Amino acid sequence: MRRTLITTALALACSPLLAAETAWITVGDAAWRLIATEAAGARLLSSRDVIVDVPATRGSAALVRAIDRVHAVQIDTDWLPRLSARVHEELRRCGGFVRHDSPAEALAVLHRLQGTVEPALAPGYAIDDAAEVNASLALTQDSRILATIQRLSDFQNRLYNSSHGVAASDWLAGEWRSIVVGRSWMKVSQVRHAGWPQKSVKLVIQGSGPNAAETVVLGAHLDSTAGSGSSEVRAPGADDDASGVAALTEVIRVFAERNYRPQRTIELIAYAAEEVGLRGSQQIAKKYQRAGKPVVGVLQLDMTAFQGDATDLWIFTDYTNAAQNQFVADLAAAYLPLLSVGYDRCGYGCSDHASWTGRGYAASFPFEASFAHSNHAIHTASDTTATFGSQATHALKFTQLALAYAVELGSD
Ligand code: BES
Ligand code: ZN
Repeated sequence: MRRTLITTALALACSPLLAAETAWITVGDAAWRLIATEAAGARLLSSRDVIVDVPATRGSAALVRAIDRVHAVQIDTDWLPRLSARVHEELRRCGGFVRHDSPAEALAVLHRLQGTVEPALAPGYAIDDAAEVNASLALTQDSRILATIQRLSDFQNRLYNSSHGVAASDWLAGEWRSIVVGRSWMKVSQVRHAGWPQKSVKLVIQGSGPNAAETVVLGAHLDSTAGSGSSEVRAPGADDDASGVAALTEVIRVFAERNYRPQRTIELIAYAAEEVGLRGSQQIAKKYQRAGKPVVGVLQLDMTAFQGDATDLWIFTDYTNAAQNQFVADLAAAYLPLLSVGYDRCGYGCSDHASWTGRGYAASFPFEASFAHSNHAIHTASDTTATFGSQATHALKFTQLALAYAVELGSD
């Protein structure tokens, strides 16, 4: 009974309201089979086998190569909420489609998803800034992370197309500005998007070295979703993904306190409109790629507060870069030696890291739990701090990992 209720709630929660028009999406094979049997008028544009590294057994560090078939599909937007619901009922997970602005873009992303294509930029992954990392880690506070999660959850929702989602973006931009005030090399801005009112929020920490054009991106998503997607629905999104935005906010606070000036440029981005097909990060990654911006690495924090397993940090191996994933595991071993690390996968482009991977950049996604044991309250009114015991000790681990990542990659 409880399962049915949860299933129904999540099926609804995965269904944003969208106006009828044509959409272009990329989906995994299982979701495509659902579309093919049910969505009259959906058209397959192209398919591609993508090579992904998957754990040999759940949680193990040993990876084996597997093939994932991914499809570019043209579909009526009317059908997208149903697709989310059906995917959830049949496949026991959410959404699983990435939405693109045009058929050309869907095809371009499909081609770049080819796992054999290496990112254009391959940085060295030396771990050699222990003094700066350790001094920074000592300043992190779980109570501050919890306070930010609470502030973000207090908005009625953070929907990409609601006034509350707009207000949450404005609040976060103000919060980040007040943290970095007086530091001329740290600049906060809000990124406008074509198609919806919620803006992404971005902090640029200008690099000071000869390689300052090279950029390290840390991201989380600002928007939330639940139920019908009506603009007044209650969608606290505490774990998904206030917990990621709060981790970024604590990283920023520590950087400001230390007056940290990296060699490379570091950007921290709270993306708008993740829950409706990674749309905010798609636009940003596309813009960066078109501008030829040298992004040397991307870290995504999406759901960090709910500890679902005895193992602490889970590194997701699909739609991510194997070499950088190894670096992330090495950082955990070096700076957070008490934590255990496992490996799993979403099985689809489940968060904003997939947008960067799709543009040929090296992205990683350290996650709160194995996929099966992740927080089942997401996309409902119950995704509150209470679901994870009103504490942020798990989120603190991801904050510290993100700090180590930013400093070690930012200082080369
Ligand atoms: N945080 C979730 C992704 C997630 C959920 C990862 C559960 C691991 C376990 C994210 O906000 C999300 O909901 N993503 C969508 C897909 C996206 C392409 C719209 C989803 O999973 O339905
Ligand atoms: Zn979500």
